[in-house]
Amino acid sequence: MLRAIRGEELHRPPVWMMRQAGRYLPEYMELRRKYDFFTRVQTPELAAEITLQPIRRFQPDAAIIFSDILTVPQAMGLEVQLIEKKGPYLPQTIQTQQDLDALNTSEAADKMQYVYDALSLTKKELSDETSLIGFAGAPFTILCYMVEGQGSKAFLQARKFCHSQPKLAHQLLEKIATVTIDYLLKQQQAGADLIKLFDSWSGLLSPTDFDAFCRPYIDRIAAAIHPGTPFIYFPKGSWYALESLSHSEHIDALGIDWCITPALARQLTGNRICLQGQFDPAKLYMSPEAITSEVTNMIDSFGTQHYIANLGHGISPDVPVDHAGAFFDAVKNYKQS
Ligand code: CP3
Repeated sequence: MLRAIRGEELHRPPVWMMRQAGRYLPEYMELRRKYDFFTRVQTPELAAEITLQPIRRFQPDAAIIFSDILTVPQAMGLEVQLIEKKGPYLPQTIQTQQDLDALNTSEAADKMQYVYDALSLTKKELSDETSLIGFAGAPFTILCYMVEGQGSKAFLQARKFCHSQPKLAHQLLEKIATVTIDYLLKQQQAGADLIKLFDSWSGLLSPTDFDAFCRPYIDRIAAAIHPGTPFIYFPKGSWYALESLSHSEHIDALGIDWCITPALARQLTGNRICLQGQFDPAKLYMSPEAITSEVTNMIDSFGTQHYIANLGHGISPDVPVDHAGAFFDAVKNYKQS
């Protein structure tokens, strides 16, 4: 993966899968029955074991540490629950200056020692061929959950907060960015080979609002991480920002989803930057033979240089395990036509 990011010519791209440790794996479900979500995340031995489950089964080229982007608001003092079949729920949200002032920024990164311990434990078990990815949520995506208090299709409350109280929004983004830099530097020290920042909801913003509410904080975080560790940014849905982001001197790779063609993504980013993506996770319900052929087409379109094969978003819980296997195999067996 590091060679792909450097732009070396490879005979096949490296491969890993978003949410590769998760509910589609029977070995994950076994641990899920015994321990609740935050116990799994906050017990380094369990988090390391879950991180390694897909590595043993599929030998992808990277492991992503088992954790969640919502550990950051939790460490800043907000309660985070994970409700079965509904997703994350934060009973107490950020609405006022008082709420904001009550957040803890100076000690938040220290409260996530369990993530650093999980990274060190995992690192010891991985061969030199497998990269270890540390991650965090991007400030705007974290703001979405801190203000809205739960998942949402449009995050209207969060966007309303940004537009009706922009001063507060920027203060909050600033605080999240500060904690995130601390957190990611500590992940770097604990053994992360690469850092990925997930901006799952940036695509809800207009290009102008992306420049106001996402970009400045991404630039700050990227500058703090790079060049110490390669930095991947995934602004889901924000295809309009790819060209400008590809000129950033601190971003090493850009994640993309399936709503842009490989050709347009390459046209916008030139050969300046590594791209990662973008197989529609819904295509994992096709037959294994069809998956193989679709994955081969995808790699033909991106080429084997400056490219990391992945999905365009996380794998769903009910995808058959052998279909995930077909995805990994198709990349590993890829032969240039
Ligand atoms: O990719 C990986 O394998 C690493 C682990 C990982 C998780 N969450 C584990 C998880 C990563 C990188 C995340 C990031 C994350 N978490 C994001 C950004 C990426 C994205 O999907 O857009 C977001 C928005 C979250 C917040 C979150 N956590 C949601 C919306 C949910 C519920 C949705 C779901 O898939 O159930 C979670 C829970 C969560 N995080 C699970 C896992 C494996 C499911 C937990 C379970 O029920 O066992």
